[in-house]
Amino acid sequence: MRNDFLGRTLAVIEDLSVEEQMFLYEKTRELKQKWHNGEDVSSFKIKKRNVGIYIVFVEPSTRTKESFVNAAKFHSGPNVKVNVFSSEHSSFNKQESYVDTFSMLTSYSDYSIFVVRTKLEGVCRLLERKVSEFAARNKIEVPSFINAGDGKHEHPTQELLDEYTFLEQNNFDTSFIHLALVGDLLHGRTVHSKVNGLKIFKSVKVDLVAPEELAMPDHYVEKMKENGFEVRTFSSIEEYLKQEDVAKIWYFTRLQLERMGEDILEKVHKLREAVTFKKEFLERLPEGVKFYHPLPRHKLYPTIPNFLDHLSLNGWETQARNGYWVRIVLLSMFGGSITAPFDTSKRNVEPEDDFIIPVPVVHGNKGVQKDGKRGIKPIDNGTVIDHIAKGKSPEEIYATILKIRKILHLYDVDSADGIFRSSDGNFKGYISLPSRYLSKREIKKLAAISPNTTVNIIKNCSVAEKYRIKLPPTIYGFEELRCKNEYCITNPVHGENVSPSFVRNKKGQFICEYCETPHSFEEIWSI
Ligand code: CP
Repeated sequence: MRNDFLGRTLAVIEDLSVEEQMFLYEKTRELKQKWHNGEDVSSFKIKKRNVGIYIVFVEPSTRTKESFVNAAKFHSGPNVKVNVFSSEHSSFNKQESYVDTFSMLTSYSDYSIFVVRTKLEGVCRLLERKVSEFAARNKIEVPSFINAGDGKHEHPTQELLDEYTFLEQNNFDTSFIHLALVGDLLHGRTVHSKVNGLKIFKSVKVDLVAPEELAMPDHYVEKMKENGFEVRTFSSIEEYLKQEDVAKIWYFTRLQLERMGEDILEKVHKLREAVTFKKEFLERLPEGVKFYHPLPRHKLYPTIPNFLDHLSLNGWETQARNGYWVRIVLLSMFGGSITAPFDTSKRNVEPEDDFIIPVPVVHGNKGVQKDGKRGIKPIDNGTVIDHIAKGKSPEEIYATILKIRKILHLYDVDSADGIFRSSDGNFKGYISLPSRYLSKREIKKLAAISPNTTVNIIKNCSVAEKYRIKLPPTIYGFEELRCKNEYCITNPVHGENVSPSFVRNKKGQFICEYCETPHSFEEIWSI
């Protein structure tokens, strides 16, 4: 059991459990109160020896960067160095990889905390995995990585300050929240983080207010529903205010033109109109509404226009200022000065179901050969892969056979393959490999390429072992895997030389472990 947060990474909001998030909010409340009462807050300061806090922003930022710089300076002293890394003058410009760069920086302190903003998605997850290996090789303490916004993926520390601000408005009552998310819900990473961040509330009602072109991606909406949230959708503020049940918390985002394609940009005026608040809407708001915004606002076309700045519904200024306090506490936790009164080592790891299932062998069976079957010769020793893509068309079955051969490197071996109709009328494929035994690792690979296949190990003319293989819960370690998101750090165009890994969700989709883009089974293979 451990109760510290040293070496933890916050790549997505779910990297902190709900209990851990609530702990951070309670500590932030305590710090704010103590500060405002003029009490001693030194217990929050990092006391560990030779700690380096690196602020690395490879994408522009004002609030996140400066609030982190100031929060880091709260901790700075004889034990803690604060470094603002100048990415434009670094070896990034000489095509150095993220992994090499951060590995080097890790060497300059006994313990490091990195705050990282990038256009590419999944960078912190990559660094967590790869720089830990560097640290282990060099006997350095495993560093912490904090995602300060990665592309259109997530912005977990913004989520922490948003939720903290909602809690303040709710007097720290976590029983219920009703909020409207308004604006560019397609590209807005801060609204994507809400899908999990709002789980601190026991009951959640979310109104999504955005035109179709900027709608929240389906997989996030589905996740909200899976989380038990009530979700309603509206195409504009106008439409939203035509009904009675209006939320008291409105969370606006700006239109992220820099991430939009030409097709969407052509309609930008109409889209902006749909999510920009107008004077005439004021009288239709219920009592006590607060508006929030992660900021920045567009100076010419703010979705929250400046005439609202002086009204009591302005909640975005308090929200932005909370960023400083929340980030101090996060650094306190990851820097070891705050420990939890509960076990912090428990992670939500789902048990892997068994996907290679041994099947009882009927002795005397000779391979898969049956009387009258065309094309297959019985083999004395070796492996027969059977039931390939059963039920699919002959073209699909043959494509799967080719895929198996390619990924398992079964080209220059004595072998035969074919397609035949089984007794139930369905087509299925086989590959016969005389004198060649598949290893357990190869069978695992086969499970990822061609689930629901049967593997027969033939010895001395009869089946010695037989396995039915199912789709594994995680698919990784093959050079043929590709994430379809062009901004994912694993995409080969970014040159990080890392293969993606995919986790199968309950719906059978494959989620990239770096950028969390969902894929169908076919989409993960670049063959
Ligand atoms: N909210 C936010 O991320 O703002 P910055 O881009 O200025 O950091």
